[in-house]
Amino acid sequence: MKVLFLGDIMGRAGRAALQSKLRNIQEKNQIDFTIINGENSAGGFGITEKICKDIYSYGCDVITTGNHLWDQKEISDYIDKDNNLLKPYNFPEGTPGLGFNIYQTKKNENIMVINLIGNVFMKSDDNPFIKVEEIFRKHRLGSELNFIFVDFHAEATSEKMAMGHHLDGRVTAVVGTHQHIPTADAHILPNGTAYQTDSGMCGDYNSIIGMNKEPILDRFQGIKSKSRFSPAMDEATICGVIIESENDTGLAKKIEPIKIGGILGV
Ligand code: FE2
Repeated sequence: MKVLFLGDIMGRAGRAALQSKLRNIQEKNQIDFTIINGENSAGGFGITEKICKDIYSYGCDVITTGNHLWDQKEISDYIDKDNNLLKPYNFPEGTPGLGFNIYQTKKNENIMVINLIGNVFMKSDDNPFIKVEEIFRKHRLGSELNFIFVDFHAEATSEKMAMGHHLDGRVTAVVGTHQHIPTADAHILPNGTAYQTDSGMCGDYNSIIGMNKEPILDRFQGIKSKSRFSPAMDEATICGVIIESENDTGLAKKIEPIKIGGILGV
């Protein structure tokens, strides 16, 4: 199976790039299933029902999220109606939405998508290393599941690498999000799990992690800014990875980073 995963959609620039290029990327690479982190797609802060529907219409199958999920108030009512929109599974007990789910591709293969969030340099949630074990008590790669994808939305490289090794051999891929910069470490871990610390964002890289520079530069200098945080609006680079799995085991055969359009495009 070939799965396309794209990093955090940063505001309108990211959405526009997906609208114009996603179908083309899917056709060119014969993609079976597409997962995109959408937690910054509404002006950098959260996601709305309308934006979810727009992103699905561009060709996305499942939307993962992270710390900004609840920024748009309406989403806490909507998320229970949309099984393709995931929250981090280790968010506190009682929050709405699914943290993982199983989907079918057009070729009738089963893929599980798991969304987790880190605890280092972030607001603290349930321990993702312990919480994820609940899923593996009931589900297993290779029998009922042809592919297991994990989006680990976290700040610290160490925590992400640790999760990669924690799940090595039990899932097809662990790819990080949230840092918004693609890391140059795509590889297959010793027991067959594809890994990249951060996928990078789908956003305008002439920015500070997708945001217009001025208010952020002001903040770093201790100056009260005249402008508010808002996403940079020039052409986005679409960043992510394509992962190909072995048919029999569900483990990774190949992981290939992609950077398309904008200033990082190759
Ligand atoms: Fe984030």
